[in-house]
Amino acid sequence: MHDLQATSIKYQSNTLYVLDQHQLPHIESWLPCESVDAMVAMIQKLQIRGAPLIGIGASLLLGHLAANGTSAAKLQSSAEVLRAARPTAVNLMNNMDSMLAALHSSGPAALPAEAERLFHEDIALCDTLATLGAELITANANILTHCNTGSLATAGVGTAIGVINAAHQQGKNIHVYIDETRPLLQGGRLTAWEMKQLGVAHTLICDNMAALLMRDGKVDCILVGADRIAVNGDFANKVGTYSLAVNAHHHNVPFYVVAPYTTVDVECLNGEQIPIEERAAAEVRGVSSSFGDVCWSPTDTPVFNPAFDVTPAALVTGWILDKGVFNQEQINKGALKT
Ligand code: MRU
Repeated sequence: MHDLQATSIKYQSNTLYVLDQHQLPHIESWLPCESVDAMVAMIQKLQIRGAPLIGIGASLLLGHLAANGTSAAKLQSSAEVLRAARPTAVNLMNNMDSMLAALHSSGPAALPAEAERLFHEDIALCDTLATLGAELITANANILTHCNTGSLATAGVGTAIGVINAAHQQGKNIHVYIDETRPLLQGGRLTAWEMKQLGVAHTLICDNMAALLMRDGKVDCILVGADRIAVNGDFANKVGTYSLAVNAHHHNVPFYVVAPYTTVDVECLNGEQIPIEERAAAEVRGVSSSFGDVCWSPTDTPVFNPAFDVTPAALVTGWILDKGVFNQEQINKGALKT
């Protein structure tokens, strides 16, 4: 396989490396990933995360294994194990389906090229989203975003963060409010790091401060990513997205979801059909991270910890997709079905 380099994944001299997102923003540590078990563990611990990136990581690993003599039968079972590593982001399933289709039609020799194609395609999809989305951003806009949707979540510039970066590059003098994104703090740890690297003016807030900013007229629009979009436009994204959408609707703040076609589940009719991952109680009772574990609640406090929630299409102003920007009427007419 050819050498590949992105912000948070790379392939060098026949080794796949993942930038350990657990240790960001303070430590930049690249972890070699040689096996399916290692990749599944990294995906489940969110050392590699973000809907597009977990699909790309799993694909590159399969390409690597194929390039190093793994049998077709083993590649088939590996793709099935990787496919199930996390349940919500459909990019992982869609990318594994592409890899399996290549395996079935042309055998193991086709997998390195298919993995590289998916990697380069994701970069191009991000660029297209950024160009389309930036047209919607007005000068001096205050944009609110949730979770992390940038170069740490994709092979390219990102989805919502890609749009933010493009608007910034166009000299629109934007400012970004970053939701810290409890419980795993992808906003506070990762988006804050990316905004600093990109030179975008930003302010970090706790998730429960967003409504107040909207009431005070300090948010011009909200941009979020997605982990799975149903054909009726309902979508799953990091938990907390739904309450942002409700608040945006109440305060007349435009609310956009930004995603490539690999995030659309053409088999999924509506948000009720999207499987939602539930995660460990320790993430809510305190913080569990590479910096150490803290538990601030009683150690046996009952916990509810869904990693994602579903935002109904009725609360979405626009879907910024690689094939264009769509409104509710267009989605209702079936724009996501093809
Ligand atoms: O649990 P995570 O950190 O993988 O969740 C990520 C998100 O919810 C992102 O918003 C989504 O994957 C879109 S990333 C381009």
